[in-house]
Amino acid sequence: MSSAEPDSVAANVAQWTATNAEFTDGAAERSWNDPEVKWGVFGIPEFGALRDVNGLDVVELGCGTAFCSARLARLGARVVGVDPTPAQLATARRMQALTGIEFPLVEAPAEAVPLPDASFDLAFSDYGAPLWADPQKWIAEAARLLRPGGRLVFLTTSTLAHLCTPDLDEEPITNELVRPLFGQYRTKWPEYPGIEYHISHGEWIRILRDNGFVVDALHELRPGDDAKTHDYYFTIPVEWAHRWPGEDVWEAHLR
Ligand SMILES: C[S@@+](CC[C@H](N)C(=O)[O-])C[C@H]1O[C@@H](n2cnc3c(N)ncnc32)[C@H](O)[C@@H]1O
Repeated sequence: MSSAEPDSVAANVAQWTATNAEFTDGAAERSWNDPEVKWGVFGIPEFGALRDVNGLDVVELGCGTAFCSARLARLGARVVGVDPTPAQLATARRMQALTGIEFPLVEAPAEAVPLPDASFDLAFSDYGAPLWADPQKWIAEAARLLRPGGRLVFLTTSTLAHLCTPDLDEEPITNELVRPLFGQYRTKWPEYPGIEYHISHGEWIRILRDNGFVVDALHELRPGDDAKTHDYYFTIPVEWAHRWPGEDVWEAHLR
C-alpha cells in the first residue's frame, strides 16, 4: 500500500521540472491561445462532462501550465489552479501575464491542498492528479474541497492502455496484456524518475464511493477519425486508440 512507500510528490516534481524545461517550442503559448475545451492527448472536443461552468467555483488538481483552467475561465468559471511543480506554475504565470487571463495558482500536491473545505462546485483534472497523485489521498481531498452535490471530473490513461504498455519507451503499446491488473497502484517507469498511479475501474469506484461520491459516468474515449498520434513521451498511437480506449474520463458527484 502507498503509505508504506516513499512519498511520490518529490519524485514527480523533479520529473515535471525537467519536462517543463523541455517544452521550449511554444507549447504553452499554443495551448493558452486555443480557447476550445478539449480532453487528453488527442484533443478530443469537450462532450458535456464539463458542461455549464459559467459562474462555478472550479479547482483544477494538477493544473500544470494551466491552459485547461484558462479555457474554463474564458467560459466564466472562477478557477483556481493547483500544482506542486514551481516551474509549471511559473509557465502558467507567464501565460497569465501574456494573455490577461488571471486566476489564483496554488503550489501544492493534490494530496494536501491548502484551500478551505466545501469551497468548490467542480474539481477537475486532465492528466494531473489522477495520474500523478495517490488516489486514496487526492480523492479524499477532492471530496473535502467540494460542496455537497459538487462534481468531480477527471481524465487519466485508461486501465487497458496501462496494461498493454511495456516498460521501455522504445517498446510501443501492444495489443496484448503485458502486466497484471491485480496489484497495480504505483508505477515507476525505468527511464523516468516519477511515480504514476494506475488502478482498476473497480478500485476507482471503491475509492470514489468510500469518499462519498456517486459515480455518474465512465467515458472511454475514442479520438475522431482525423486525430493524429501525439508526440508525447507516453505515446498511444491513434490506430490503437481507435480500437481500444486509451483514456478514461470519470464523472462523479458528492452526495
Ligand atoms: C500533464 S500535466 C497536467 C496538466 C495539464 N492538463 C496538461 O496537460 O499539461 C501533469 C501535472 O501534474 C502535476 N503533478 C505532479 N504530481 C502531482 C501531485 N501530487 N498532485 C497534483 N499534481 C501533480 C505536475 O506537476 C504536472 O504539472
